[in-house]
Amino acid sequence: MKVRPQLILLACVGLLGTGCRRLPPSKPLNQLTPTEMQGRAVFQSHCAVCHSANTENSLHGPGLQALFKKPYLPSGAPANDERVTATILHGRNMMPAFGSQLDDEQLQSLLAYLHTL
Ligand code: HEC
Repeated sequence: MKVRPQLILLACVGLLGTGCRRLPPSKPLNQLTPTEMQGRAVFQSHCAVCHSANTENSLHGPGLQALFKKPYLPSGAPANDERVTATILHGRNMMPAFGSQLDDEQLQSLLAYLHTL
């Protein structure tokens, strides 16, 4: 996971002419670990109504494909666990807070799943 942002950056430099629109593919569903599968269930029940997991297209909120594979979140904040966790726990503008709805295990599995996108 550590080396990924640099790789993406290199890929972007290589693709400058095309505007870096080519996203790396998500991990196939049948290869998800039990934790990632649990996180997917949390995503389906709490996030999927507003966020697409497999496109960048907006529903109510931005599509989350390749969320952690790009250097920045849609807001321009750095794409890291701290910022995404804060968004989930405290909400953001029109996005509700989930701090009181998710226990730590659910939150950690959700983050693991988001890393597969
Ligand atoms: C009711 C709709 C709604 C739900 C449910 C929702 N979100 Fe969001 N989300 C939004 C909106 C709207 C934004 C854009 C906020 C902004 O930047 O103005 C957003 C933004 C985000 C961002 C980008 C933050 C940034 O800094 O750009 C992430 C990551 C995110 N949501 C993750 C999640 C996760 C994970 C869940 C499930 C726990 C979730 N959201 C549930 C509406 C929702």
